[in-house]
Amino acid sequence: MDTQAGGPNRVGVEIIGSATHLPEGKLTNQDLEKLMTTSDEWITKRTGIHTRRRADMANGEKTTDLATGAMGKALKNAGVDPKELDLLLVATMTPDSPTPSVGCVVARDLGCNQIGAMDINAACSGYVYTISIADALIRSGMYKTIGVIGADTVTRHLDYSDYGRGAAILFGDGAAAMVLRASEDASKGMIAHRMHADGEGAKQLFIPSCKHDFVEQELFDERKLDKVQMNGQAVFKFAVSKFQEVIADTLEDAGIGADEVDHYICHQANSRILDSARERFGIPAEKLLVNIDRLGNTVGASVPLVFDELVQAGKIKPGQKVMFLAFGAGLTWGSSLWQL
Ligand code: UT7
Repeated sequence: MDTQAGGPNRVGVEIIGSATHLPEGKLTNQDLEKLMTTSDEWITKRTGIHTRRRADMANGEKTTDLATGAMGKALKNAGVDPKELDLLLVATMTPDSPTPSVGCVVARDLGCNQIGAMDINAACSGYVYTISIADALIRSGMYKTIGVIGADTVTRHLDYSDYGRGAAILFGDGAAAMVLRASEDASKGMIAHRMHADGEGAKQLFIPSCKHDFVEQELFDERKLDKVQMNGQAVFKFAVSKFQEVIADTLEDAGIGADEVDHYICHQANSRILDSARERFGIPAEKLLVNIDRLGNTVGASVPLVFDELVQAGKIKPGQKVMFLAFGAGLTWGSSLWQL
C-alpha cells in the first residue's frame, strides 16, 4: 500500500467501532448535599450536572478495568479480534499507578499480541490529542488498526467535604473507546486539527503531590495533597475563550463554515461553556450533544463518551463531518475535525 501523503494511493482512516464502559456507582447532587454544604439547585444552575458515575475504588475498580471494558466492547462492535490491533493508545491522567501504563494492562487483559501500548496525558484534552496522533500514524503507513481509549477515575482525587466542594461537584469516572482502521477511501479521517498547551496556566488546575507544588507556600495545606486544585473562574474564562478560538481556527484550516459540521463532539466540563460556543457559532442544540447532566466531567473519557452516545442513538452516519473538541488542565486545548 502506497501511504505517501498526497500520493496516488493515499490511505484514509475510518472509525469502525466504539463503545462505552461506565462504573455502576452513581453520585447524585442529593448525595453530595449529604457530604458537603451545597445544593442541587446551585450545582444544576452553575454546571448543568445532576449525577455522575463513581468507580468503586474500595473494591478495586480502577481505570484499567473501565478501559478494558470499553476497548473490549468497541472491538466486538467493530468485529475486530484483539489480535488484529497493531497499537493501543490510552488518553488518561489517572493510571492505576505511575507504571505500568493503562495501555499495557489493557493489551494483556484483552489478549492482544505484544503490540505497542502507551498512555498519553493531556488531561481533558487527551482524547482529542490522541485520535489526531492515531490518524497520523495510520496515514503514515506505520499501523493499520489502532485502539484508542479515553479512561479516567478522577473521583479518587476529589475531596468530598466543604473544603474541596468547588471541584468535587464537577467530576465523574468513565471510559469509552474507538477502533480506527486504515481505509482505501482517502477522504475519510482527520481533515484538520489543533493541539495547544500553555504551561503558564499549570497551577490553575492541578493535583499537587507535595508542598513544593504550591508556588505560594501559604496556600499549602496537607488536605490539598493528591486532590484536584482548581481556580474555577480562571479555568471557566480560559475555556470559554479557547473553545471559541479553536473552533474558529479549525474551521478556517479546513476552509468550511460552522454549519457544515454535523456534530460538535465536545468535552463536557460545564453546560454554560458549551452554551457560549453554541451561541457564538449559531450551532443548533441537536448538533452539540450535552450529557454532562448524567455523567459530569469525565476528563479523558468525556469526548469518546459523547461520540459513542451519538453512535448508539443512530446519529452518526458515513460522510458526516464531526469536530472533536476539548480543553483542560495543563492548560491544554485542541480539536480534531474528521470526515466520517
Ligand atoms: O475540564 C476542565 C475542568 N474545569 C472546568 O471547566 C471548570 C470551569 N469552572 C466552572 O465550571 C465554574 O467556575 C464552577 C462551576 C467550578 C464554579 O462556578 P462559579 O460560578 O465560577 O462559582 P464561584 O467559584 O465563583 O463561586 C461562587 C460562590 C462562592 O461563594 P461566595 O464567595 O460568592 O459566597 C463559592 O464559595 O459559590 C460558592 N461555591 C459553592 N456553593 C455551593 C463554590 N462551590 C460551591 C458548591 N456548592 N459546590
